[in-house]
Amino acid sequence: MSRPIVLVTRRIPAAAIELLRQTAEVRLWDSDEVMPREELLRQVAEADALLCMLTDRIDAELLAAAPRLRVVANMAVGYDNLDLAALAARGIVATNTPGVLTETTADLAFALLLAVARRLPEGERYVREGRWTTWGPLLLLGQDVHGATLGIVGLGRIGTAVARRASGFGMTILYTARSAHPEAEAQTGARRVGFTELLAASDFVSIHLPLTPETHHLFDERALRQMRSTAYLINTARGPIVDHQALYRALAEGWIAGAGLDVTEPEPLPADHPLLTLPNCLVVPHIGSASVATRTRMATLAAENILAVLAGHTPPTPISQ
Ligand code: DGY
Repeated sequence: MSRPIVLVTRRIPAAAIELLRQTAEVRLWDSDEVMPREELLRQVAEADALLCMLTDRIDAELLAAAPRLRVVANMAVGYDNLDLAALAARGIVATNTPGVLTETTADLAFALLLAVARRLPEGERYVREGRWTTWGPLLLLGQDVHGATLGIVGLGRIGTAVARRASGFGMTILYTARSAHPEAEAQTGARRVGFTELLAASDFVSIHLPLTPETHHLFDERALRQMRSTAYLINTARGPIVDHQALYRALAEGWIAGAGLDVTEPEPLPADHPLLTLPNCLVVPHIGSASVATRTRMATLAAENILAVLAGHTPPTPISQ
């Protein structure tokens, strides 16, 4: 019997490819760059399964080119790149990779928070540029993280993991969420408040929401103006949740003190983007889940999802609609 064909749209950890190869013929886009759209549309024609990235748009056009497709496994927890209605209409199973990247992404959110509060990028540039002449009582003064108030917008898995880190730093934790999270509250002392109260009361605001029509540009001029002028915005969720034109003005005109961004709009952020001229804006290239162990776990979970569907089973982490 012929083996099912799995199209993998990027070079991924080898363990996942080896797992797929036990059962399937793997067609790999063997590159660290995005598979060009025309190539994807061409190659998906023969695929029974697609292991794709958050940079691949899986929409009606792609599905029309993929008559054999049974499963789309997104190697990410976020799935705003998938047209779920179009997938459901074709009876194609969609899966993501929740859980396995929670702690690693929370680590990065906290790293950004510490880095902007204590001005690490500025300090690093200062040393490299040979400007460090002496210890200075007023040199690169930042803000304390311990004892400060952290506002977590969206207390899901990653938001809760950030709250746990914050409680270790003795922070006061506020959060917004559609429903209360008594367990996380008991564990971290977090208190649920309204969005406006969170913005007004927080020294750090960290975004942990999915990108949906409701969260698109949630952080617009109005929201940013409600934050404290001494506050910092951290985004490890999705870039378009923040209006970047408003953010530029907020940072340049001092409505807020700084920002740490793992995600931007657009991605990649062009090197000549105005945000990159600002010393109080730290941008890293969407590396929230980028540890060796976590990327391996994400890739193998995506592979496990594919193999389950191809074998006629329910996959470990389907996206429920
Ligand atoms: C995700 O999984 O959605 C992240 O953005 C990438 O790890």
